[in-house]
Amino acid sequence: MNLKELVFRQIEYDSPEYHQAVKLRSKVLREPLNMRFTETQLRAEKSYLHIAGFRKGKIVCCLYLIKEAERARLKQFAVEPELQKKGIGSEMLRFLESYCRKQGFSSIYMHAREKAVPFYEKFGYECYDQKFLEIGLPHRKLRKVLAQHE
Ligand SMILES: CC(C)(COP(=O)(O)OP(=O)(O)OC[C@H]1O[C@@H](n2cnc3c(N)ncnc32)[C@H](O)[C@@H]1OP(=O)(O)O)[C@@H](O)C(=O)NCCC(=O)NCCS
Repeated sequence: MNLKELVFRQIEYDSPEYHQAVKLRSKVLREPLNMRFTETQLRAEKSYLHIAGFRKGKIVCCLYLIKEAERARLKQFAVEPELQKKGIGSEMLRFLESYCRKQGFSSIYMHAREKAVPFYEKFGYECYDQKFLEIGLPHRKLRKVLAQHE
């Protein structure tokens, strides 16, 4: 996996790239739980910031951000299953933090699946509050303050 092939950028809601991203999020985050996104959930995504990573023109990872004042809430981070644990998620997170600084966010916050917590901790995200259940899975709240000089 040549990580230099990856290109990251914001994608438009309801664009062809957005629909590819929804498919990937559904495959990685919902189908294994026998769940699917509802029309209402997808309509609500209109006001979010959608980010994707491309390899040879195809989306290999994606997520979206919800603006909550100066804080960006990260949701639905998904990497193509056969390409997980090859460094793509790390590249995405580096891009995301730089993107968030440019957008003027001072911190990133999320509800992360417990299984993914060690991944975020490698990048300095810290758990706070108690463990809780969301879509039937144990989750933790994580946050990171973004240094402005980087
Ligand atoms: C979690 C996820 C986004 C990470 O992306 P990725 O491309 O697989 O991660 P990377 O290859 O960049 O991994 C970076 C490091 O984190 C570790 N890591 C990645 N996923 C991990 C996990 N689930 N548990 C523990 N460590 C993990 C890797 O082993 C690697 O460690 P290393 O640097 O010591 O080798 C991706 O695996 C994924 O989509 N998982 C399924 C969906 C999911 O859980 N999404 C997050 C919801 S909160």
